[in-house]
Amino acid sequence: MKTPKFLLPVATAGVLALTLSACGGGGGGGTTGGNAGGDAAQGLEGRGPITYVQGKDNSNVVRPLIEKWNAAHPNEKVTFKEQTDQADQQHDDLVQNYQAKNANYDVASVDVVWTAEFAAKGWLQPLKDKMALDTAAMLKPTVDSASYKGTLYAAPVSSDGGILYYRKDLVPTAPKTWDEMMGMCSVAKANNMGCFAGQYAKYEGLTVNASEAINSFDGSVLDKDGKPSLNSPAAKEGLSALAKAYADGNIPKEGITFQEEQGRQAFQDGKLLFHRNWPYLYNLATTEGSSKVKDVLGMAALPGKSGPGASSLGGHSAAISVYSKNKATALDFVKFLVNEENQKFFATQGSLAPVLTSLYGDQALVAKLPYLPVLKTSIENAVPRPVTPFYPAVTKAIQENAYAAIKGEKTVDAALSDMQKSIESASAGQ
Ligand code: GLC
Repeated sequence: MKTPKFLLPVATAGVLALTLSACGGGGGGGTTGGNAGGDAAQGLEGRGPITYVQGKDNSNVVRPLIEKWNAAHPNEKVTFKEQTDQADQQHDDLVQNYQAKNANYDVASVDVVWTAEFAAKGWLQPLKDKMALDTAAMLKPTVDSASYKGTLYAAPVSSDGGILYYRKDLVPTAPKTWDEMMGMCSVAKANNMGCFAGQYAKYEGLTVNASEAINSFDGSVLDKDGKPSLNSPAAKEGLSALAKAYADGNIPKEGITFQEEQGRQAFQDGKLLFHRNWPYLYNLATTEGSSKVKDVLGMAALPGKSGPGASSLGGHSAAISVYSKNKATALDFVKFLVNEENQKFFATQGSLAPVLTSLYGDQALVAKLPYLPVLKTSIENAVPRPVTPFYPAVTKAIQENAYAAIKGEKTVDAALSDMQKSIESASAGQ
């Protein structure tokens, strides 16, 4: 392999970068994180039709925005390519199309955890020089998570922070700690419903949930130097909390199959007392005709060991493919997605977390969506997942071992020690 050994900058501004001494990676950009002289230099002036690729538009936010854009830009129309609602499938679809240098994946919605991988492969157009985007008005964590090695590679479009949804009619005050919440599971039993669930199927959402458990018990996936730190008593306490809750039924058995949508459905059907999910749930749970929780939906910070816990930082950014032929149109469309009016629409139409800081203090918006200030704190305190071009191997190590531990197929000690070893070997470029 041609790629030399390199180190990533570590832990800048709250972003935990995994310290790597790695071979491999491949792809056009290699370690420079771009291919400025190649595809990235092409198509900059190009205007014409483009495609926008994104996961399932659960709350019908993207379609109306694209209609609005198309009405105003008849010669630069955007076609929406809608992917599934599953994060891993979205990732694999993007990888396949970038590898094939598909010029039609002009703009794609990139999960915060894919920025480093895609940028290092040279697939994303750096947003600088002619393609620059002003990010001064955006929440800092969203900008950091769309950047790699100091360069912006995508426009933050929506952020995400985990929220504890609960049944206000059954639990007057939200639990602040995990133990308090487990103590309230008797209420669930008495009402013949499951107590708590997040996302525990073996996919990206489990990495989110396992990391939250570890962080919320004061552990961490990486230490401040970017090295895996899973062999700690705190990490053990966090993962054990999930494993124990699953073993004793406080997390119902079907929870092991949940991605976001299955959990949301169970909660909306009245089958769960507490549910960890993202802000998008609010809109659907309060507007869908079938929702049983419309008038009794409580929202609070995730519970931690001795107070509020720590969410994993989620969210998506719009990235322009280096292979696009119409990058001038693509950049205008990206700017359109992040203008104030449309950012408000993301919030009001889909209860998605805007990236513009000012909107969290916008009185009219807060009056409509009273949870916005809480969400802002959640996002500002959220812990990023590891930042590394080798993220697929890192997340696999977390998912597989957390899954085995929750199901009781591995002890928590063995799972954490295997997680630690696999992340170390991913870092060693295996
Ligand atoms: C949400 C988050 C994203 C996360 C995914 C996991 O879409 O925004 O960051 O990776 O859920 O399923």
